[in-house]
Amino acid sequence: MAFTASIILFPNKERLLPMKNIIKIITGFTLLVSLTFCSPERPLVNSPDGAIKLSFNLKNGVPGYSVSKDGKTIIDTSFLGFEFKSVPSMSDGFELSSLEHNAFKENWKPLWGEKEEVVNEYNELVVNLIQPDELKRKVIVRFRLFNDGIGFRYEFPRQPNLDKFVIMNELTQFKLTADHKAWWIPGDHDSYEYKYTTSKVSEIDISKTEYAERPDRFVSHPKSVNTPITMQSDDGLYLAFHEANLTDYAGMTLIVTENLTFEADLVPWANGDRVRAEAPFTTPWRTIIIADDIDELYNSNLVLNLNEPNKLKDVSWIEPMKYIGVWWEMHIGKSQWAKVDIEGSWAGSGLPHGATTENTKRYIDFAAERGIKGILVEGWNAGWEYWGADTTGFFDFVTPYNDFDINYLVNYAKEKGVELVGHHETSGDVINYDERLEDAFKFYNELGIRSVKTGYAGQIRPKGERHHGQFNVRHYRRVVETAAKYNVMVNAHEPIKDTGIRRTYPNMLTREGVRGMEFNAWSDGNPPEHTTIIPFTRGLAGPIDYTPGIFDLKFEKYRQPNRVHTTLAKQLALYVVLYSPLNMAADMPENYIGNPAFEFIERVPVNWDETIVVDGEIGDYTTFARRNGSNWFLGSITDEAPRNKKISLSFLDDNKTYIARIFRDGDDIDYDTNPTSVAIEEIKVTNTSALDIKLAKSGGVAIIFTPNN
Ligand code: NOJ
Ligand code: CA
Repeated sequence: MAFTASIILFPNKERLLPMKNIIKIITGFTLLVSLTFCSPERPLVNSPDGAIKLSFNLKNGVPGYSVSKDGKTIIDTSFLGFEFKSVPSMSDGFELSSLEHNAFKENWKPLWGEKEEVVNEYNELVVNLIQPDELKRKVIVRFRLFNDGIGFRYEFPRQPNLDKFVIMNELTQFKLTADHKAWWIPGDHDSYEYKYTTSKVSEIDISKTEYAERPDRFVSHPKSVNTPITMQSDDGLYLAFHEANLTDYAGMTLIVTENLTFEADLVPWANGDRVRAEAPFTTPWRTIIIADDIDELYNSNLVLNLNEPNKLKDVSWIEPMKYIGVWWEMHIGKSQWAKVDIEGSWAGSGLPHGATTENTKRYIDFAAERGIKGILVEGWNAGWEYWGADTTGFFDFVTPYNDFDINYLVNYAKEKGVELVGHHETSGDVINYDERLEDAFKFYNELGIRSVKTGYAGQIRPKGERHHGQFNVRHYRRVVETAAKYNVMVNAHEPIKDTGIRRTYPNMLTREGVRGMEFNAWSDGNPPEHTTIIPFTRGLAGPIDYTPGIFDLKFEKYRQPNRVHTTLAKQLALYVVLYSPLNMAADMPENYIGNPAFEFIERVPVNWDETIVVDGEIGDYTTFARRNGSNWFLGSITDEAPRNKKISLSFLDDNKTYIARIFRDGDDIDYDTNPTSVAIEEIKVTNTSALDIKLAKSGGVAIIFTPNN
């Protein structure tokens, strides 16, 4: 027990409620016992249920950790540390100065989300390290073990010999113990908009992906991936690597090395710096979800739990909602964003302007009639004719085109009980947007517009900065904070990945950061398997503004031969499978009017009390059930393979009969010639029922269960 003297068992007392203290004391006691059995070189910490164990070690002065689940090593000794610019690195020469153990448990209620209550329970190991040379520099590694995985971060306390510093390389590793199957996208520094590749970890190679066709893209290594990256072992265990609370740091990509080790690779600033820091300074959490099954994988809360509680005092203006928009019509080539034509603009020269007062009224009327709250209008503001051109500063975000009467439309919508959704496309010109940020949000606030979709389609200005570098991470956060100041909810496109900050800023509702619906309009589109993968990869980070709900799947009057690669019933099912608190009904009113299938979109909620992944094989099929009050909604989808399956309804409440209103692929469905056929029917079911369902090629089924009383 030579070691106990240096252990501080109960630090941070002020943060604990009395009940939590009891938990701490108990854990502290068990800890004292267990420490007597583990050597000082390998301090241990367990998840609350004991299944996951992490051991910390120092090998020749280099810190490392390993992780096991149910006695089996899943992360082999992986090293930690940093290389700095100008000052000596903190990569080796460490000694352990002290350890702390803590335990914590709380239940908290998100303002909105996939479930009404989140359990945040972990055991913590705090490793205080020192380089005992003349500089005596210190770093803390804080590990948290949850029942569904682990998180750890580095903390640089205030100290005499570390003030301002530049991180040139974060040396964090994740060493696998087997060549798992992985679902991944390239480690592009500007975009997450890729098809997912399924391969063994050892076969990760971005030159075989769409990256090869995008010469404008920047990636630092052919074997680099973005996170979340999800893997499955031969015996079925899921692992997903990501990060939490990315606040003032570079986004982390991961490079796979020879021996199945993922190494952190931070997105650089234009001059090659990775992170500019000043002590005291903490990094984001590095996270590993470790899940026995697909439901535990999706329902993991550890990323959210590793963020700070809500910082906003008044949240009365935050309200999830569905929205429709003057949007798809521009993507398929019916109209364009710009009012004025300029050769070479991305906006779509030669087509009529979409965001006119008259056209917007059409959307408002439809939304008001069919229970959709928001109306997004893209192309409302002057400047779009320069979108994609090599010029800057062309959007001021407050000047409407003269065929768009914004004051009139705001009032027109208000009278009808609906509201406009704002739009700020920056084209990546962050310099310009930053300068105008306050005015842009003030403008919406004064009009009573309380949500905005942002966009960064274009290279970042200043030139050389990347969408996912520290420069832009800071910018994205400034936007969320400014929006909060003006009571505006944010839906960010071309964003930084979600790392759970919605817990702290619940006005950060949703984001893109995925190859969304738009790709079906103007490219080879998203393959049928895409939406069976993204809930379990990108979706582990948080809400996805995928923009489902296209009914005219082949849009034969517009861009051909493109199409949406699903059936119509699958479009409905996506409202349950994919979660977004701002969720779009993406098609145009003329394609919804008169179609009885729209009832499902009208009735599906954007906020849930409970979520269950009923079944799923990533890349093949999945079924989700979500509860709102006493109603359940189910969405089941398949990839290119038609499937017959039996779905157990055991998730329904005991002793209740439900009316199941089923929207399924019609009997005459044909993916190529008749993908829009939907059959709507009702049956009575209980939680002992099982449904036989038939899914067409890239088909789906969407069901509403209401108690029958
Ligand atoms: C890309 C966004 O993802 C899309 O939704 C938007 O319509 C365009 N940029 C224009 O802002
Ligand atoms: Ca996009």
